[in-house]
Amino acid sequence: MGRISDDDIQKVREATDIVALIGERTRVQQRGREFWCCCPLHHEKTPSFKIDPATQLWHCFGCGEGGDIFGFIMKTDEVTFPEAVRKLAERARIDIADDGPQGLPASKKQRLRDACKAAEEFFHTRLMRSPDAGAASARTYLSGRGLGGRVPKEWMLGYAPGRGAMTTHLLSLGFTPQELVAANISVERNGHLNDRFYERVMFPIHDVSGACIAFGGRIIGQGEPKYLNSQETPIFHKSQVLYALDKAKAKMASTGCAIVAEGYTDVIAMHEAGITNSVATLGTALTKSHIRLLSRHAGKRIVYLFDGDAAGQRATERALQFIDDAATPESGRTQTEICALCLSDGQDPAEFLATHAASELQALIDAAQPLVQFGIDRRIERYDIETAEGRARALPDALSVLAPIKDSVLAKEYAVQIAQRLRIREEDALGQLARLQKPRVYEDETEQAPLPAARAPLSLRGEEANRLALEQELLGTFVQHPLASLAFVDAISKITWHFKAHERIAQAVIGTLAARLNATPAELIDAAANAEPLASSILTGVSVNEELPPERTISYIVDELKIGDMEDEATRLKAEMAKAAEGSPQEADLFKALVSLQEDLAQAQRNRRPLA
Ligand code: UTP
Ligand code: MN
Repeated sequence: MGRISDDDIQKVREATDIVALIGERTRVQQRGREFWCCCPLHHEKTPSFKIDPATQLWHCFGCGEGGDIFGFIMKTDEVTFPEAVRKLAERARIDIADDGPQGLPASKKQRLRDACKAAEEFFHTRLMRSPDAGAASARTYLSGRGLGGRVPKEWMLGYAPGRGAMTTHLLSLGFTPQELVAANISVERNGHLNDRFYERVMFPIHDVSGACIAFGGRIIGQGEPKYLNSQETPIFHKSQVLYALDKAKAKMASTGCAIVAEGYTDVIAMHEAGITNSVATLGTALTKSHIRLLSRHAGKRIVYLFDGDAAGQRATERALQFIDDAATPESGRTQTEICALCLSDGQDPAEFLATHAASELQALIDAAQPLVQFGIDRRIERYDIETAEGRARALPDALSVLAPIKDSVLAKEYAVQIAQRLRIREEDALGQLARLQKPRVYEDETEQAPLPAARAPLSLRGEEANRLALEQELLGTFVQHPLASLAFVDAISKITWHFKAHERIAQAVIGTLAARLNATPAELIDAAANAEPLASSILTGVSVNEELPPERTISYIVDELKIGDMEDEATRLKAEMAKAAEGSPQEADLFKALVSLQEDLAQAQRNRRPLA
C-alpha cells in the first residue's frame, strides 16, 4: 500500500465533520457548544463522551480515550491510521492517490481481504451445492454434529476440496500467486502453487467489522491435526482476533458482558442457543490484548469459559496471569471484571448444550466466579485437605495466586478465606502472603507510561500527581490553541518533562508546528499519537479553561513547572550537602549553588501571578 500523502489526509479531514461522523453511529445530543453521546468504546448509560465541533476532537471522560476523526475510526473499527483514512475517504468520496513504488495496488491488505472473501465464497458454495462425495461427507458430518439447517449459511461454513481447486478459481478471478500465498490460503511446494486447506470443513474467521481474514479447517472425523488454522498474515494477528466478535459485539455492548470459549464449535453452539455475546480465541491462549479488545466492547464483565479437560486446566493456569493490581479496588480504576468458569465432566460448551438447555449454561455463566477466587479454588482442589499434610501443601500454592496483588486489601481478605478453609491460623497465612515475591510484570514501555489524568494511578505521590496534571494541562492547552502557543514554543521546549510520554508528545508537537505553523489541533494530535500511543487520550482529555486566554494558562503553567523544578533541585542540593563532609570544599560549592538557586526561586515566586 502506498503511503497516503499529507494533502490527501488534509482533504479527508476537511471533508469530514466529527459531529456528523459520530452521529451516524450513535445518538448525539447538543449541550452548549459541545456535543455529547454514550461512548461507543465502552459500555455506559449516561453520556461521558464529548465532541467539540470547534477543535474537531472527541474525548471520553469514562474510558479516557480521545482523538480526532481518524482516531475515532481507528478505535471503533480497530483499524490502522492509513486504513482509517481510506475508510473516511470512501465515506467522503475522495480518491486517494497512491504514491507508492510502481503502481502497487490501491490497498494490499484490502486485496488479501478480497482474496479471503473469494475463498470463503468458494468453500461455502462447495459445501452447499457440490455433488462431490467429499462435500457430501462434510454436509453429513456437520448435520451429525448439530451444525446443519441454517447454521452453514449463517456462519459461511465451507468445504475445501483441495487438489488446487480453490487456487485455480482465485487465479481465474485475477488474484496473483503472491497474494494467495500472502493470505495463506495457497502454499508453494516445489515451485508449484497448491491449496493450503484440503478435505476439511472450513470455518471462516472474520475481523470485528465482518471481513473474512483467515480460516480454521477441521478434519472430517478423526485425524491430525484436528484443526488447521491460517498462519499469521498481514491481515491476521491471532492475538488480536477473536472468532465471532463481529457477530457478538452488539450484544456485548448492550449487556456489557462477554464470554470467551475455546472452540469455534462452542461459539456457534452458544450463538445458536441465543448466547450471542460469545467469542473464541483462535487455538491460542487468551492474551492481554484480547482482554483489552474485549473490555472495549464489554465494559463490565468478561467470563472465560474453560473446557473441562487437561488443555482447559492449562488455559486456566495461564489465565491467572491476568490477575493484576487493576483488579483491586485500591487501583481506583473501574476495570472490567474477569470471571472464569469450567464445565464439569470434561465437557466443552458445545457438548454441554447438546444435553442441557441454554438457560442452564447462562445460569452458570452468570454465577461464574471472579478469576482470583476461581484460581484459588482450582489450586486447593489439587490437594486432599482432609489431611494436615495436604492442607500444609495447599497453602503456599493457593496463596501464590495472590502474589500479583499481595499488598492489596483484597489479597488479605482472600488470604484469610484460604486460612479458614485450610484450618490454618490467619496470621500464618497473612505472614506468608507478605513474604511472597511480586512477579515481574512484562509489559512494554507504553503500558507503564502515565495514564491519562482521569485515571492517574494512585501510586503517584501528591506532588507527582499534581505535576502529571499540570504537564497534561499544558500540553492539552498548547495543542488545542496552536496559534496562541507559538509564542511559547521556546519556553516549552526547555521544560524538563517528568513523564517520558509527555516529552515525546511535546517533541512531536513542536516538530510539527515548526514544519507547519498553521497546523490544526487535529493534525498536532495525529503527529503526537504517532510518537506516543497515549497522546490522543491525554491531549483531548484536558478541559481547557475557556474563560482565560490560552496564553495566560500556558504562561502560568510554564512558570509553575519551572518553580517545581527549582524546588526539586533545591531539595536535591540540600540532601547532597548533608552528605558532604563538613567544611569540605565540596560542601562550600553546594552551598553556593543552593544560595543562587534560592535567589532565583524567590524571584520566580515573587513574579508568580495567580491564574485568575
Ligand atoms: P478443541 O479440541 O476443544 O476443539 O479445541 P473443538 O472446537 O471442541 O472441536 P470439535 O468440537 O471437536 O470440532 C478448541 C480450539 O482449539 C483450536 C481450535 O481453535 C479449536 O476450536 N485447535 C484445536 C487447533 O487450533 N488445532 C487443533 O488441532 C485442535
Ligand atoms: Mn472443545
